[in-house]
Amino acid sequence: MNLVMIGTGYVGLTTGVGFASLGNNVACVDTNAEKISQLDLGKVPFFEPGVQDALSRVQEQGKIVFTTDLESVIGGADIVMLAVGTPSTRTGEANLSYLFSAAEGVGKHLDHEVVIVTKSTVPVGTNRQVLAAVKKGLIEAGREELTSLINIVSLPEFLREGTAFEDFHNPDRIVIGADDEIAAQTVASLHDGLEAPIVMTSLESAELIKYASNALLATKISFINEIANLAERVGADVRDVAKGVGLDRRIGPHFLKAGVGYGGSCFPKDVSALAQLGGAKGYSFKLLSTVIEVNNRQREIFFKKIIDELGGVKGRRIAVWGLAFKPDTDDIRESAGVDIAQRLSAYGADLAVYDPQAMDNTRHVLSDHVDFTATAMDAARGAEALIVLTEWPEFRDVSFATLSEIMVGQHIFDGRNHFADMDLHKKGFKYQGVGLGNCAS
Ligand SMILES: NC(=O)c1ccc[n+]([C@@H]2O[C@H](COP(=O)([O-])OP(=O)(O)OC[C@H]3O[C@@H](n4cnc5c(N)ncnc54)[C@H](O)[C@@H]3O)[C@@H](O)[C@H]2O)c1
Repeated sequence: MNLVMIGTGYVGLTTGVGFASLGNNVACVDTNAEKISQLDLGKVPFFEPGVQDALSRVQEQGKIVFTTDLESVIGGADIVMLAVGTPSTRTGEANLSYLFSAAEGVGKHLDHEVVIVTKSTVPVGTNRQVLAAVKKGLIEAGREELTSLINIVSLPEFLREGTAFEDFHNPDRIVIGADDEIAAQTVASLHDGLEAPIVMTSLESAELIKYASNALLATKISFINEIANLAERVGADVRDVAKGVGLDRRIGPHFLKAGVGYGGSCFPKDVSALAQLGGAKGYSFKLLSTVIEVNNRQREIFFKKIIDELGGVKGRRIAVWGLAFKPDTDDIRESAGVDIAQRLSAYGADLAVYDPQAMDNTRHVLSDHVDFTATAMDAARGAEALIVLTEWPEFRDVSFATLSEIMVGQHIFDGRNHFADMDLHKKGFKYQGVGLGNCAS
């Protein structure tokens, strides 16, 4: 099948490469010329395990091309898929301007029947507006007769950054929302070669499935963080509580890891967009407002813990390990690591930061005075305290004896409980995690 993918970000590129590796012919389009020229040279412009190798393979097979010129590739398309960003506006709604502009652009260049697919995460009702935007483009281009031949399908994406390529090949489910059964089947056959249950549904249900999934995962995280805060007060260990709760098959073990809260490009904006959608429809989604509030408060509680314990940070060298919003990505959107680093910097800390992948992205968002070090140990050298904000596996491999020698103070504040099982207090550190009660502090 011939697929045109619009947007070559984490989702567009990963799924574009994925569909090419299933044997489809894929043309990826982006307005960012620099990204496209890098991709043309076979270079993935972000860090996502597996994508670089897979790109080289499909490029060699001639299954994928990259361009900024939509018109040059839309001619033979069976499917045009929109995977542009839908970031939050200042008031928390999804910003759909990139999506509508891309959709209108598609309409202006279309000259044949095609299925339009929305892969971006969008509020309920958006797919119908996308279809209207494509039709508007067609009318403006003088091809009104084509408007009845264009169908829209909602195909929400559930991949996780860090395991995105693996997730593409092993999805839990494929959700296809459409009015038109043939269009839905066309999109289903694009996935030939993948084994996963397909949920065929309406446009509105597909749109809501995506938001409901992310909101429920975020709710689990905020819930376990509330339990963690309580655990600290009653001397319980939230890791054991989460294990005991998660073994209940009705609940499951996932997303019950206490810490400094969720971040990333999806949960914050999607939870907020769902709450906004409720408001716009006259329904106050009370649970979600609290999930958001608990998540924001979790960062404040963690930050206060640092300030209270150290008695302030002004002029003191503090090391931060981890800036990406989670391991195995260089994505820092809504990252707790960046947020805490910014707060420390604003409080006058002499900050040294290290992340295995996210340094380049972070340079633009942290103050010039921050020391970006070449290794984790370089950041820790001379520090009074170490703050751990992303659970990169390599952080567990450091020599804690050496760490203890090179640090001036012995405080470790672990926002991910990454070292909670390592008895660091016995190694002389003043170790604090999240929700560990009296057990590991
Ligand atoms: N990142 C994730 O983990 C994830 C997971 C599931 C769903 N999603 C959703 O997928 C969508 C894309 O997310 P992302 O993280 O890949 O975003 P991203 O910001 O990494 O990439 C978006 C890309 O779209 C391009 N673009 C914008 N307007 C364009 C246009 N008119 N024509 C062509 N290209 C255009 C941008 O230049 C950019 O390269 C969002 O709606 C997001 O919510 C993301």
